[in-house]
Amino acid sequence: MEIKAEIIHNDSMAKGYFKLGLACAVPEVRPGQFVMLRVSDGLDPLLRRPFGIYRTLGQTRGRTLGTRGSSSKSKGIEVLYRVVGKGTAILSGKRPGETLGVLGPLGNGFPDRAEGSNPVLVAGGMGIAPLYLLARRLGEGTLLFGARSKAETFLLKDFRGLGLKIKTATEDGSAGIKGLVTGLLENELTPESIVYACGPVGMLKAAAAISGKAGARCLVSLERSMACGIGVCLGCAVRAKAHKEEKENRFYKMVCSDGPVFPGEEIDWDLL
Ligand SMILES: Cc1cc2nc3c(=O)[nH]c(=O)nc-3n(C[C@H](O)[C@H](O)[C@H](O)COP(=O)(O)OP(=O)(O)OC[C@H]3O[C@@H](n4cnc5c(N)ncnc54)[C@H](O)[C@@H]3O)c2cc1C
Ligand code: FES
Repeated sequence: MEIKAEIIHNDSMAKGYFKLGLACAVPEVRPGQFVMLRVSDGLDPLLRRPFGIYRTLGQTRGRTLGTRGSSSKSKGIEVLYRVVGKGTAILSGKRPGETLGVLGPLGNGFPDRAEGSNPVLVAGGMGIAPLYLLARRLGEGTLLFGARSKAETFLLKDFRGLGLKIKTATEDGSAGIKGLVTGLLENELTPESIVYACGPVGMLKAAAAISGKAGARCLVSLERSMACGIGVCLGCAVRAKAHKEEKENRFYKMVCSDGPVFPGEEIDWDLL
């Protein structure tokens, strides 16, 4: 059920990047889950937009997202977003005190960590947003962050002090190693590693391949355009490899309701 949530803050972090705080009590959020935000009360844009839940805010009693009741839960959620089109441009103009329609928390999120595993988080640009709750829960391991340039490394600020080693790769070499973040991955992996990746499709595909070669498990958080966010419209379908021997209609998984987190080897990357 969609609820109306008041905007607590909608702060610019850097040019085109915003941190949005919403007052809506939430039940326990699994790292990697997302919400659908209705950015306009009118018909344009008609569809809600999906955003990973960056973190939860405080504790309170109030209207609870994802339930019909009122109970003692987090007092809100925060979302980090980058302006890329009409919906996010409208969102960036919203002010504290205005309200937004919010649906969620949605999706499966990342599974609990297997005992003895060695976590390696791989983030490309804004792909870092859905990894904050995971990093905080893990409290150890390594975070590999890839960006176009040093200007995007402000996204790492909240991750410092969580207990993870942080390594950076930038395309222009202005921070960390010069090149792609997946160039850092190979040296980090052992068969005990578990890779949690979020970012552009090319990065996820490479992370899954590198992890597979090293015998490590890789979980990828996929992004697709979403219309409903709840498994009804079939608009976010991706082809899944593991089911090729089954009936044709079982080849597909819905990113919104089966995911957005999938084992990397399950995705048919050539058809994405
Ligand atoms: C599960 C999930 C979680 C997400 N979490 C976040 C998040 O935490 N923060 C965040 O900023 N975004 C996140 N996104 C992406 C976000 O939903 C889109 O950026 C947003 O819907 C774009 O809406 P728009 O109306 O501004 O752009 P549109 O008008 O829909 O698209 C404008 C242009 O931007 C392109 N575009 C769309 N999405 C992206 C993208 N992610 N990166 C680059 N170009 C894009 C489109 O192809 C199009 O060319 C997530 C997406 C999914 C599916
Ligand atoms: S967005 Fe409608 S089924 Fe996934």
